[in-house]
Amino acid sequence: MLGKRRAQTPSTLKLLARSVRFNYLESMQKNRYWHDNDPVKTHFFNALQALFPEGERFFMDSARDVRDELGKGNIPPALLEQIQLFIRQEAMHGREHDNWSEALIELGYPAMEMFDEKLKRDNAWSRKNLAPITRLAMTAASEHFTASLAHLFIYHRPDLVEKAESPFRELLIYHALEEVEHKAVCYDLYQQAEGSYWKRASAMVFVTVDLLLRLRNRMQYLLEQDGLWDAKHRRAMRALIWGKDGIMRALAPFLLQYFRPDFHPWETDERRDLMERFREEMDLIEKMQEPSADAA
Ligand SMILES: [Fe+2]
Ligand SMILES: [Fe+2]
Repeated sequence: MLGKRRAQTPSTLKLLARSVRFNYLESMQKNRYWHDNDPVKTHFFNALQALFPEGERFFMDSARDVRDELGKGNIPPALLEQIQLFIRQEAMHGREHDNWSEALIELGYPAMEMFDEKLKRDNAWSRKNLAPITRLAMTAASEHFTASLAHLFIYHRPDLVEKAESPFRELLIYHALEEVEHKAVCYDLYQQAEGSYWKRASAMVFVTVDLLLRLRNRMQYLLEQDGLWDAKHRRAMRALIWGKDGIMRALAPFLLQYFRPDFHPWETDERRDLMERFREEMDLIEKMQEPSADAA
């Protein structure tokens, strides 16, 4: 009996490394709780996004290292091009999330820098001590996590982006779109390098637990700084993440797909629905890509 055929990356896929620039500090100063005037939701995103810059540098390094170890001649040209564009997209995301984090430090959360330093040290340790294929397994799993978040925003919890004020809303939508576009690049490279199922499955467990712990530490700090680390806000934090309509419960069915041996990220294609659902924000992002009249 023939098994189910694994989905594949669409041959027409085009990754676009868009450039956006926003002023986060100005918006935070206008409203510190820019997500629905809710400190818990705002700090959820502040904490989550603070993981991105160093995380994304880790992703770029692992893709580069496996590509170089494998040798360019052993990788299909289309995948090689996607790796290049994936690196460009992640570099741009890193820059914007660095700016967001700097705005947070300026606003009165200086320890965010310390958290980042710790992440930098952990990444340096991993690069020295873990094989490139192991780091790529962690990257492919993390990419599934971010693509799952994008999926959640589009189909199940659009409120999580719609209730964010500008420019946080636009940044989240822009980032979600590019995470969807490059969701299979590291997965495909991992398959090309003949990475094992067990390594990729255990990496998913590890990165999920690691992300949740680091997220919680940062959320605790941000709420503590505001004098809001009390029973009421802790309850709200638990409900947001673990409650009946919480983010992790909604994310779980999608995350679990990753454990199927024949899983492939392009079993679902969220691009068109994302563009349609967030048309206004996407128009603004596209406009930012056009050369300005002064530059002409
Ligand atoms: Fe990213
Ligand atoms: Fe990514």
